[in-house]
Order: sequence, then C-alpha cells, then structure tokens
Amino acid sequence: LPEVNIGIFGGGTVGGGIVEIIESKREHFEKMTGKSINVKKIVVRDLDKARDFTVPEGCVITTDFDDILGDDSLDIIVEVMGGTTLANDVVRKALSNGQDVVTANKALIAANLPDIEALINKVNEGKDEKVEFRYEAAVCGGIPIIRSLQSDFVGDDITMISGIINGCTNFMLTAMDVHGKSYDEALSEASDLGYAEADPTLDVGGFDARSKLKILIRLAYGIDVEEEDISCRGITDLTKLDFQYAKMMGGSIKLIGVAKAVGDGKVAAFVSPAYVTQNDSLYAVTGATNAIELISKNLETTTLIGQGAGRYPTANSCINDIISLAKGDKTPLPFNPPSKDAKFVNNYESNF
Ligand code: NAP
Ligand code: HSE
Repeated sequence: LPEVNIGIFGGGTVGGGIVEIIESKREHFEKMTGKSINVKKIVVRDLDKARDFTVPEGCVITTDFDDILGDDSLDIIVEVMGGTTLANDVVRKALSNGQDVVTANKALIAANLPDIEALINKVNEGKDEKVEFRYEAAVCGGIPIIRSLQSDFVGDDITMISGIINGCTNFMLTAMDVHGKSYDEALSEASDLGYAEADPTLDVGGFDARSKLKILIRLAYGIDVEEEDISCRGITDLTKLDFQYAKMMGGSIKLIGVAKAVGDGKVAAFVSPAYVTQNDSLYAVTGATNAIELISKNLETTTLIGQGAGRYPTANSCINDIISLAKGDKTPLPFNPPSKDAKFVNNYESNF
C-alpha cells in the first residue's frame, strides 16, 4: 500500500492518544484510505519519561526537532506539544516545507492566525498540490465545531455562538458545586485527568476559552479580533458562597463564552462565569463536557454537545484530520474568508 508517514511533536495526553488510535484501527484506516498510516517519529522533551502508550514498531522517539522537521519523507506533521513559540516554529517550518499540518493548539492559532494564514497563502500560491492546515481538536476537543463552521454553515448567517468551551473549568465547577470539592482539589483532579493546560492559568483565567472564541469569531464572522479585546473573566475569584447563592436561587454557575452579532456588521464577545437556571440547557452540561449553541438565520438553533477535553476525545479530532488528509480531502481556506465589512466592538459599544 502507499504510505502516509507522520511525525508527531508531543507524546503526552493527546499525542499518546493519536498513536494508540492509529495502531488500534490500522486495518480499518487502510480500508478507508487505501493507504498505510504510519507514525514514524515522535518528538518529546524528556526521553527518560515513562510513556503510557506503546511506541509503534519502526517509530523513533527523539528530542531532536531538526531530525523530524528536515525529514521530507514525512507527509503530515502533527503538533500536539503546546505553547506558542517552539510550536509556531514547527508549524511554520512544516508548512514552508510543503508538509500538511494537524494541530490541537488553540493558543498557537489564536496568537498567530493572520501570520499562519498568510504563510499558507504564500506557500500555496500557484501550486496545484496545496498544503493543508487542520485544527479540529483546537476548539472544544472532540466536538466537530471547526468542520461544521467550515462547511455546514457556509450558506447561513450566524447571529450568536455561545456555550461552555473549556472542559477543565467545567469539570472544576461541577466538582465544586455538585461534589463539594475545594478549588484546589478540583484543579488537581482536572490536571490528573489530562484536562488542564500545561499552564492551568490558561484554563482558570478564561484565556483558553478566549483563544477558542477568537478562532470561532474568525470562522463565523470573518473577523480577526485581538484576543485582548475580548472581555475575559475566569473562575479564580469564585468561592463556595457563590455556589451556595446560585443553589439558593435554583441554579448553578458556568464559565461561558459568547460571540454575538449586534447589528450593522458589528460583533461583540466575552468570556465570563454566568449564573444559569435549572431550565437552561447548559445547567445539565457537567464534567469536561462542552456545549456550543449556534443561532443562525437558516438553521435557527443548533447545539453541539460532547467531550471538550481529555486524551481520546481530543485525539479523535486529530485522527479525523489525519484520515481526511490521507483520503485527499481539500480545505483550501482553513479559516474561511475574512470579511471586509464585519467589525469587532467591545461590550460597551455593543449594547449586548
Ligand atoms: P501534554 O500532556 O503536556 O503533552 C505535551 C507533550 O509535548 C509531551 O510529550 C512533552 O514532552 C512534549 N513537549 C512539550 N514541550 C516540548 C518541547 N519544548 N520540546 C519537545 N517536546 C515537548 O499536553 P497535551 O494535553 O497533550 O496538550 C497538547 C496540545 O493539545 C496543547 O496545545 C493543548 O492545548 C492541546 N489540547 C489539549 C487537550 C487536552 O484535553 N489535553 C484538548 C484540546 C487541545 P514530555 O512528555 O517529554 O514532557
Ligand atoms: N484545557 C482545555 C480545556 C483542553 O479544558 O478545554 C481542551 O481544549
């Protein structure tokens, strides 16, 4: 069979899951794509660290970035290492080298979206064989929200995107509210389960949700908003008393992200903890589950609910990207076209 060779940056929660799924579904993927999908190289930081997945036969595990980035036999570079500096170099070099990229790194995309887009356009200019950039896992883990916005909503006008878009904090809020855990216990459990970012401030400060919202705003409205312009409050100031008050009123507290078209082509957005009543659909969304509601002209209300963090849900999205690339599917505009007319406004200007 023809081969699709893969190099992975990162052999942690997500990287390990990707390797496991590729190996466990090898025959199925061969039948689906007519190709043999092989993980050839994995880059990690610490070679002595015990791995909780089996390194496939013939796969090299290394700390040498150049060994993998200079290897033209690799068709797809998967970046599941995290961070915005080295990861950005990896993604840029791979794209410049004509290799397809799959990443789960929303912080990287949010911080560099226009640059990545410009690079993809430059690399692809005048070429028949275009590089592909896939990032389904970067927003809401296992929920297929990127693909939906790239395809299912192309003929629609989205007026609002809202919901729970960070699994770690939703897990923590559930642990504190329903199971009476302290903030520290809840965060420690979320980290043990692989939900938290390497720097959990990104989760609890609302910044991970803000990065995701920025990406969603580009896909839904064509606007490149600066992350810092999105109003952002995390869950760090919440106390037991807040949950007691919420319970007394018959509801709970959720960290939500909202982006809304507020008229005249203007869009406003925020990330904040919010009180939800028992009648609100978000009330029953517990643990690391995410839920996104899209209000749009044609489809009216669409809700996507599923696991937003963790090894297998996230790896599942990366696998979908990898298999789609192996099948030869094309997504020439990974961020949808930018809009000339739409404009981001802060919440004071928006009459939210
Ligand atoms: P992780 O468990 O911490 O794994 C990171 C991996 O990258 C580790 O294998 C680490 O090596 C390696 N690595 C980190 N820095 C490195 C460096 N400077 N040089 C070489 N290797 C390096 O992280 P993760 O949870 O898999 O997350 C990876 C990415 O996926 C992040 O961008 C995250 O935002 C995104 N993501 C995660 C989830 C989730 O639920 N976990 C969901 C969606 C998206 P060692 O193992 O040797 O330390
Ligand atoms: N830390 C992130 C979250 C991982 O909890 O949602 C998935 O993006």
